[in-house]
Amino acid sequence: MTVPESPTLLLRRVRPYGEGDPVDVLIRDGRIAALGPGAGEEAPADAEVHDLDGAVLLPGFVDLHTHLREPGREDTETIASGSAAAALGGYTAVFAMANTQPPQDNQTVTDSVWRIGREVGLCDVHPVGAVTVGLKGEQLTEMGQMADGAAKVKIFSDDGMCVYDPLVMRRALEYSAGLGVLIAQHAEEPRLTRGAVAHEGPTAARLGLTGWPRSAEESIVARDAILARDAGARVHICHASTTGTVELLAWAKSQGISITAEVTPHHLLLDDSRLETYDGVYRVNPPLREAHDARALREALVSGVIDCVATDHAPHAAQEKCCEFAAARPGMLGLETALPIVAALLIDSGDMTWRDLARVMSVRPAEIAGLTDQGRPIEVGEPANLAVVDPDSSWTVIGEDLASLSANTPYEGMTFAARVVGTVYHGRMTSRDGKALA
Ligand code: DOR
Ligand code: ZN
Ligand code: ZN
Repeated sequence: MTVPESPTLLLRRVRPYGEGDPVDVLIRDGRIAALGPGAGEEAPADAEVHDLDGAVLLPGFVDLHTHLREPGREDTETIASGSAAAALGGYTAVFAMANTQPPQDNQTVTDSVWRIGREVGLCDVHPVGAVTVGLKGEQLTEMGQMADGAAKVKIFSDDGMCVYDPLVMRRALEYSAGLGVLIAQHAEEPRLTRGAVAHEGPTAARLGLTGWPRSAEESIVARDAILARDAGARVHICHASTTGTVELLAWAKSQGISITAEVTPHHLLLDDSRLETYDGVYRVNPPLREAHDARALREALVSGVIDCVATDHAPHAAQEKCCEFAAARPGMLGLETALPIVAALLIDSGDMTWRDLARVMSVRPAEIAGLTDQGRPIEVGEPANLAVVDPDSSWTVIGEDLASLSANTPYEGMTFAARVVGTVYHGRMTSRDGKALA
């Protein structure tokens, strides 16, 4: 099965990019067929009508960094449950990281993830291919085979692990340039993070937790910018987390180096003061940093030094999170809470418009990944991949109620103003009012 045929949809009273008076949007055969105050008059009698009451209409979100856990840990997330979480979060395309069990380090696994994603049919699931066999950092994978397979793998990453060996990273960048694919680096110099569970700073020192210094990230960002420059390759930095990384990205971009970067909602919102509770839900790699880092990351996202938001959605079982802090697995859920957090931090503060938010959650990630049918303008003739946002809903996060099979959200009990109330994927509604639509 592939993406099912879509009915004619009529979205009544939406505001594209939150601008101007509400309009109607008619969607037929997976594309925007008409848009304007009178577009509804062209709708056939059997059209599926959604009255959206002036909600904000945005291009569907694209997540460059999701962990779906299938194959191997289907007790914590599957491609189906993760796709449902994505649809609820307004996402129409996600990139599923390669650190599954077995890892996505060969074409059989990447094509299987792609195929299952198509069968589920709630969003595009693009498997990320591993850079090295077994994510061990030693031997390069057959990137070309994965790129040529059914999944047409576009992004390669050992995420969870860093491609730490500079010679391996150099070769990977050289091959990627030849293949026209992108290497995404989890920047962590492992020699500097042995045993580390928290950001190295006053909080970790007081709590007796082993620290992960900023330099472990920044030294790899600097190194990889230079390697990419000399290889004539592009490099993408996963989950930027420090003030210094922002400075290095600005420098590298000013040199004309082809470097892009993402930031997670949790690094934009939270800092290491959360660790005072010793609650394992706050353990994540890279760790929550200090307040000035979060501020620098927000400013860099607004200015474009950081290109986009990516969730690093990382489901974990209760027994792997509800334990001693140092024993907890790193990672937190992100797909269903990303939009509310970014809107609270950057729209409500006046730092961004909805059009800016569309840039960092949809347009730029689609460009970085080379997707041609995502992150498109909301115009007649364009593919209907869309997110509908109610900016004034009052939504309280309850981990148990999320579509994800895991519940490790650090936002438990927090209330947000903005919420995704509908997602349109290839012309079909995949979520509506908090329910994923199979
Ligand atoms: O916190 C994290 N969790 N960081 C990573 O790099 C990997 C991820 C995971 O797979 O759980
Ligand atoms: Zn990572
Ligand atoms: Zn990750």
